Amino acid sequence: MNILGIESSCDETAAAVVVDGRHVLSSVVTSQVDVHALFGGVVPEIAAREHLKVIDEIVQQALDTAKLTMDDIDAIAVTQGPGLIGALLVGVAYAKGLALSSGKPLVPVDHVEAHIHGALLGVDTAAQAIYPCLALVVSGGHCNLYVMESPTKLTLVGHSIDDACGECFDKVAKLLGLSYPGGPKIERLAQGGHPEAVPMPKMIAQKSRIEFSYSGLKTYMVNLLHKEQQMSDERKRDICAAFQDAAFDQIVRKLVSALEQYPHMKSVLIAGGVSANQRFREHMQRAIKIPQYFPALKYCSDNAAMIAAYGYHQFKQGAQPAHGRWDAYSRAHRPTAH
Ligand code: KG4
Ligand code: ZN
Repeated sequence: MNILGIESSCDETAAAVVVDGRHVLSSVVTSQVDVHALFGGVVPEIAAREHLKVIDEIVQQALDTAKLTMDDIDAIAVTQGPGLIGALLVGVAYAKGLALSSGKPLVPVDHVEAHIHGALLGVDTAAQAIYPCLALVVSGGHCNLYVMESPTKLTLVGHSIDDACGECFDKVAKLLGLSYPGGPKIERLAQGGHPEAVPMPKMIAQKSRIEFSYSGLKTYMVNLLHKEQQMSDERKRDICAAFQDAAFDQIVRKLVSALEQYPHMKSVLIAGGVSANQRFREHMQRAIKIPQYFPALKYCSDNAAMIAAYGYHQFKQGAQPAHGRWDAYSRAHRPTAH
């Protein structure tokens, strides 16, 4: 089944064609990062206007790269939220129009849950024992932990009670004079640093609480960097290395205790922008003893292949999406559940 995915929730406009939720025929992503760099963060109104400029071309490119036309597409999956409302509106309105004009069904998809499917692109899920699993999304806006019984049956069992992990990376990067998005720049600087050279706080030490918190670490970093305005490059590298280890330590500890609470889990899926970090992957691989799946680097940050993949599972199953109705935007026939 060929699914066309469309994504416009933040500052990336993306379209992709994915077969059976797994084989990516095309994945086109264009980033607005240079436009927003001037402002030190994403400006919602500008993001919406930039999506509008390119969305038609990006969708066409995705179809062309896949060597398909709309006639070959079985359904259109579009990010319906969460995200910047004006930015989402562009993708949803475009997808609605395309669904109406082509007569194809439209599947509204949750962006955060879709990230998880990025970790399974290219994986032969039929042959490998994946479910039930724990699924962790660590992105700019969320730090969510789910128990996943099947591709579409997810229960949120933990989340950040304040800032998200990626958001904390971006804020600390800004304090260090690094441009948005800060995560990859902190990772690069940290490579030459000594994490043990800078003491860091330990967040949410209680084992039983499966929740995440980054506002304490952020405040600690604000105070630390305020005191250290004249920093050598070496000190900067040490601070970045210590900061990222502290940020990851919390996630690893929480996952280890979640696995004690849910001992029947067969695997762990880890996705979202922060999952691109190699140090994070090393920490996880050292601490978690059951199989782990991370997305290929190009599917860690926002893309439409993950939207198409999740859309495929929802469409095939005929499941009612959590935050919308199948026929919300399209009059096309919905398949019966099987
Ligand atoms: O998933 P994503 O692309 O967008 C959202 O849905 O939020 O995540 C973006 C976030 C940003 O905060 C960015 O700084 C962070 O992911 N990020 C990283 C790395 N690459 C991206 N954080 C740490 N290390 C990285 N290598
Ligand atoms: Zn995202």
